[in-house]
Amino acid sequence: MRKLFIISTVIFWLAVAGFWLADLYMTTIPVTDVSPVVEPAAKGYLLAEVAGHAKQDDCWMAIEGSVYDFTTYLPDHPSAPELILPWCGKEATQAWQTKNKGRAHSSRANQLLEKYRIGTLR
Ligand code: HEM
Repeated sequence: MRKLFIISTVIFWLAVAGFWLADLYMTTIPVTDVSPVVEPAAKGYLLAEVAGHAKQDDCWMAIEGSVYDFTTYLPDHPSAPELILPWCGKEATQAWQTKNKGRAHSSRANQLLEKYRIGTLR
């Protein structure tokens, strides 16, 4: 009987020590990778920088405070090239909003913009 008491006491304290060590281990694991996901700030361009991209094969525009690189889109634009090309390198908000015909672009055209956005206008 006495032997059984000793054995169960030893088992009890071994279990206590085990839980204590496990707790110690868990609380000392360094917590890594808790930094919040930070969106990179949009790059800001001066209008002077936009002006340096005023060619058919290198065409940036500033529209409503954003800067776009439309170089790869130009061949797909449905109008005659001479309607859109003069706006390369320029602040083209008004031309964009009116198509220079007093008519706004469609929502589909609006959705296209995001694909070509490279930053903001400073
Ligand atoms: C900023 C100068 C621009 C001018 C002057 C201009 C002008 C025009 C004109 C004259 C048309 C054809 C006629 C019409 O649909 O009424 C047109 C259609 C269109 N343009 Fe532009 N555009 C410009 C920029 C852009 C840009 C940057 C995009 C897209 C990224 C774009 C996308 C479209 C699309 C998708 C159409 C087909 C009709 C629509 O969805 O509204 N345009 N644009």
